[in-house]
Amino acid sequence: MDIERYMTERAAAVNKALPVFVSRLKNSQPRLSEAMLYSLSAGGKRLRPALMGAAYEIFGGKASDILPAACALEMVHTYSLVHDDLPAMDNDDLRRGRPTSHKVYGEALAILSGDALLTDAFTVLLSSKYPRQPEAEALLSAAAILSRRAGACGMASGQAADLEAASFLRGKGKVSPARTKAGLSLLSYIHLHKTADLITAAVEMGAALAWAPKKDFNTLSAFGRDIGLCFQIADDILDVEGDKKKLGKSGSDARNNKLTYVSLLGVDKARRTAEILLNKALSSLDSVSGAPPAKEALAGISRFIYGREN
Ligand code: IPE
Ligand code: IPE
Ligand code: MG
Ligand code: MG
Ligand code: MG
Repeated sequence: MDIERYMTERAAAVNKALPVFVSRLKNSQPRLSEAMLYSLSAGGKRLRPALMGAAYEIFGGKASDILPAACALEMVHTYSLVHDDLPAMDNDDLRRGRPTSHKVYGEALAILSGDALLTDAFTVLLSSKYPRQPEAEALLSAAAILSRRAGACGMASGQAADLEAASFLRGKGKVSPARTKAGLSLLSYIHLHKTADLITAAVEMGAALAWAPKKDFNTLSAFGRDIGLCFQIADDILDVEGDKKKLGKSGSDARNNKLTYVSLLGVDKARRTAEILLNKALSSLDSVSGAPPAKEALAGISRFIYGREN
């Protein structure tokens, strides 16, 4: 399978649909819509929609059938980035190769555009604009997954723990095995929630919309968790070593004293951990019953996540 082509095609569909969905939000305040579109249209890899579509296709459908659900998840992810970049959080100036939302629109509007992206993700997810309208019960399951994985049981708590953990590294004692162990346990909570939860939501929503058997749903969920953790370790490494031009962001973990796999274990051990997680994710795919090309797509996206440069 030509995975690059697969991902480019899925990203093109999402890029085309997102502004259409935003334009349908009638009576929205023009500057607010502009800020939402600014962040949505800045590009981005669109990995979560690609994962959702591939998970859905395992069970016989076509990724294009669930485009609104894929766009809804991308809206939640984009809101998380807008808020992540705010001065009160990571205080970053560059995102997806452009000045961050608060740099262009000011903090207040950036916050509001994040609020609207999150809320209207559910407007889009629950809309009747699907090429093949899913049953209400399947949409309800997808909405429950998205809200649980984004909220206090998920991404928002991961972000809160990420902020709190900055003090872990700040001038505290010597490196010791006990300290590394405590750091790793905290770190796995942070990464699991701030990043792996929305990636897990992608495959879970695809599976739920396809009425996947419970066993396959659970296997895909475990796959999402592993590849999500691998994703954030790669992100930690890129923050230090990546080409900032390709990344489209400046790297701020060291400046913010972030607890990351790199700050705790160093680059080599971090890379080794990511590789173990990739292999674990790939082997869980073997036990999912369903269409081999779609499973190959999920495997290809996983390898991309591990080896990515942006
Ligand atoms: C960045 O996510 C935020 C993290 C969870 C590390 P992506 O690397 O998927 O960002 P975009 O969507 O491609 O910009
Ligand atoms: C952010 O992690 C994860 C979320 C936005 C939920 P990071 O802070 O490491 O993401 P980047 O590096 O700014 O994209
Ligand atoms: Mg952050
Ligand atoms: Mg950040
Ligand atoms: Mg990062």
